[in-house]
Amino acid sequence: MPTPSASLTIPHADASDWLTRYQFGLRMTEQGRVISIGDGIAWIKGLPSAAMDEILNLEDGSRALVFHLEEELLGAILLQQSAALSAGALAYRSDERLGIGVGDALLGRVIDPLGGPLDGGTAPACDGRRELDVLSPPILARDFVDQPLYTGNKIIDTVIPVGRGQRQLIIGDNGVGKSSLALDTVINQRGKNVYCVYVAIGQKRSSVINSLDVLRESGALAHTTVVVAEATAMPGLKYLAPFAGCAVAEGWMWQGKDTLVVYDDLTTHARTYRELSLLLRRPPGREAYPGDIFYLHARLLERSTRLAPVHGGGSMTALPLVETEQGEIAAYIPTNLVSITDGQIYLDQNLFASGCLPAIDVTKSVSRIGGKAQHPRIKEEAGRMKLDYLQFLELEVFSRFGSQLEASMETKIRRGRLLREIFKQERLAPLPIEFQLAWMVAYNEGLLDTLAASAISDYLGHLAQCVAQGPLTLGDSREDWRQAVTAWMQEMAVP
Ligand SMILES: Nc1ncnc2c1ncn2[C@@H]1O[C@H](COP(=O)(O)OP(=O)(O)OP(=O)(O)O)[C@@H](O)[C@H]1O
Ligand SMILES: [Mg+2]
Repeated sequence: MPTPSASLTIPHADASDWLTRYQFGLRMTEQGRVISIGDGIAWIKGLPSAAMDEILNLEDGSRALVFHLEEELLGAILLQQSAALSAGALAYRSDERLGIGVGDALLGRVIDPLGGPLDGGTAPACDGRRELDVLSPPILARDFVDQPLYTGNKIIDTVIPVGRGQRQLIIGDNGVGKSSLALDTVINQRGKNVYCVYVAIGQKRSSVINSLDVLRESGALAHTTVVVAEATAMPGLKYLAPFAGCAVAEGWMWQGKDTLVVYDDLTTHARTYRELSLLLRRPPGREAYPGDIFYLHARLLERSTRLAPVHGGGSMTALPLVETEQGEIAAYIPTNLVSITDGQIYLDQNLFASGCLPAIDVTKSVSRIGGKAQHPRIKEEAGRMKLDYLQFLELEVFSRFGSQLEASMETKIRRGRLLREIFKQERLAPLPIEFQLAWMVAYNEGLLDTLAASAISDYLGHLAQCVAQGPLTLGDSREDWRQAVTAWMQEMAVP
């Protein structure tokens, strides 16, 4: 039975907003009824015009999102935990889609996927609003990825470079340092005018607090927004979290700013989507995931791009994380994400166990477009160094059999081991790109060849200091760099 909506007090999280847009007048509206409720899902009958992704207002004041349409019934995901809600409650359409406030007021804030504050502060005074689920920018609005985004990591910035607007997957087993690597990248954007969004999906509260502490103590929270849907949150919120983070970054991207979004992690997101889909009785496919799981992640990651100058030239770089089991990179969700993204950084359990941290496996990692964004000087040095390293990895296998090797092979192995030692990097210690160039020049010139493994970190520390105090930039010639690095290394009296 239709009822006039003027008599309804429609509960809404943002009442003032609703009031300003309200127009008086008699209008007809549909009234539905909740048939059953549980596990974060409500089945509702009697809203024939409801559309997918529309917000429904429920009788107890909570909201739900239309997620599944059947002939008679619709399935909605609940957006708030409410004890007052039970079968028989009334439901009304809102004709609105889910959105989130965007703008600089979100910097330094911790919010939930609906934009509510989780840090005990007041609601952020946002200067705009964006829908959570929108189409990705059309091809013509995009530009090439040709500017680097430095992670501060020795291996990534040289061998697996990331460009602004790129989507680079961080993949690895449980506990091999995926989150650490992503957080280090966020920290490295300090003072570089890159707006960051860190999305924590389904993580334990202790992990979220740890990540927040890391960001705060390193001074990175000031340029970061943290979107959290922790493990105990409603499945609907965990499902929405990456879309909320993406919308926040998109707000800045369309203002012409460079942004970085970390989705930590999409395995949990896929599992939440599977849970919701199974509860809504959608047909399960491979590993019980619904058939559209690929589309879900493609839709999210396609929104990361570099915009053309006419649209402000902003960019959104995405670092999605995905967890593997026993290093199985070919499992369903990991392969989906590998094929959607522009490259992957593979973290290896064995390297982690042997103390090579960060445990990046160079042979299984790739950046398909980042090379175009790399500075030519870095690219030149990295090319030589990478070749050495790959040859070493092959030779090392042979040397394990105890076979006699030629002297030249032994030199290669020694230099490879040196590189492996150089690659080791503490967490929370991102390095400037000038230093990356300096150590590569030192390595390629053979200035480090005679060093013992234990002395490497001291020499690199000294080199980092010299680079920081020195006047050289990436624009200076290789000869200038070679001379400077040679002089700095002599100061340390390399024998
Ligand atoms: N470069 C590093 N140097 C030293 N320790 C590190 C480094 N990177 C990571 N670690 C340590 O490894 C542990 C696991 O790291 P992290 O939590 O980032 O892994 P993860 O892959 O995100 O784990 P999970 O799968 O549980 O989310 C942490 O204790 C962290 O301190
Ligand atoms: Mg983690």
